[in-house]
Amino acid sequence: MKIRKIIYAKTFDGMPKESDFKIVEEDLGDQLNENEFFYKSLWVSCDPYLRAYAGSYTVGKTCIPGYQLSKVVKSRNAKYPVGSLLVMQSGWRNGGKSDGSDVWYVRNDIPGNVPLSAGFGIFGMTGLTAFYGVDSILKPKAGETIVVSAAAGGIGTVVGQIGKILGCRVIGSCGSEEKIKFVKSIGFDDAFNYKTESVDDALKRLAPNGVDCYFDNVGGDFTFGVLSHMNQRGRVAICGAISLYNAKESDKRVPQLHGLMISKSLLLQGFNTPSDVNPQADKIYATLRKWTEEGKLKQYEYVTQGFDNIPKTFIEMLQGKNIGKTTVKL
Ligand SMILES: NC(=O)c1ccc[n+]([C@@H]2O[C@H](COP(=O)([O-])OP(=O)(O)OC[C@H]3O[C@@H](n4cnc5c(N)ncnc54)[C@H](OP(=O)(O)O)[C@@H]3O)[C@@H](O)[C@H]2O)c1
Repeated sequence: MKIRKIIYAKTFDGMPKESDFKIVEEDLGDQLNENEFFYKSLWVSCDPYLRAYAGSYTVGKTCIPGYQLSKVVKSRNAKYPVGSLLVMQSGWRNGGKSDGSDVWYVRNDIPGNVPLSAGFGIFGMTGLTAFYGVDSILKPKAGETIVVSAAAGGIGTVVGQIGKILGCRVIGSCGSEEKIKFVKSIGFDDAFNYKTESVDDALKRLAPNGVDCYFDNVGGDFTFGVLSHMNQRGRVAICGAISLYNAKESDKRVPQLHGLMISKSLLLQGFNTPSDVNPQADKIYATLRKWTEEGKLKQYEYVTQGFDNIPKTFIEMLQGKNIGKTTVKL
């Protein structure tokens, strides 16, 4: 089996460029050992963590460690027979050989009313991360106010929908007027453009009674802006810090955190998918599926086509071109 994969070709300097990536071919042969299988990638995911973890990549060697929805095409592994649909983290590649150690979830039962890419969208890392952060950290009560940053993105759109299912007031921040319109159209109570209005002004206007829960996708100055609007005993789920991933100098404001956390008795908690989330993955998946079948939860995605377009699509996501989860159909 011959496959193509995308490797890290040049050290990122700020925002990645297409020339920082290179497509290479690999011949995996035709033989499978006991427990191995060949798979074909159907969809590949473009995620911010691929930029955040670049410090651990080796130039000329590392296959960009993205995940994909794959179909098993030949198998000597009883757990993953031919035809199985798998969410795997085996890198940006259009196929491969596996012993199952890079399989995250089996997704043979995606309901008919959502696209297959939901396997790694609402039913994969995106949905499970959003659900875990809300359910296990924010623990919102009906009527409370949730703020979510990067609201029009993959995780943001799911957090907003879950917040509404739970009866909360949901306020989103995003980077364009088009995105504000979009998040309101999917049920957010309000939204603001962080590029044209300060967090402080926006939250004075949209959350005059304060913020109970903050789902943080962006970190940096934005997060400090939200913290001073938190109510007593507010909860903050630290999910991501995309505002800093391409920054050339790190943020030095950490000491200010303590004053706000102490005076407001805040709970700030980070979490990680898969390590924190996977022990609850089956339970979370069952709830997300149920809500989807009931029409309460939808998958929103930004889709491009073709393996060669993966790096370009990844850069577009970092630049904010996407609405919903960023995916590439192979
Ligand atoms: N904890 C975990 O295990 C875990 C798992 C998955 C993802 N995450 C994190 O969750 C966050 C969202 O991930 P996602 O996959 O759903 O991506 P996404 O929100 O679909 O896409 C990224 C979005 O970030 C926004 N953005 C880019 N630069 C920004 C900046 N300087 N300031 C503010 N916003 C900026 C852009 O939207 P705008 O147009 O609105 O700027 C862009 O659309 C990321 O920080 C990611 O690292 C964490």
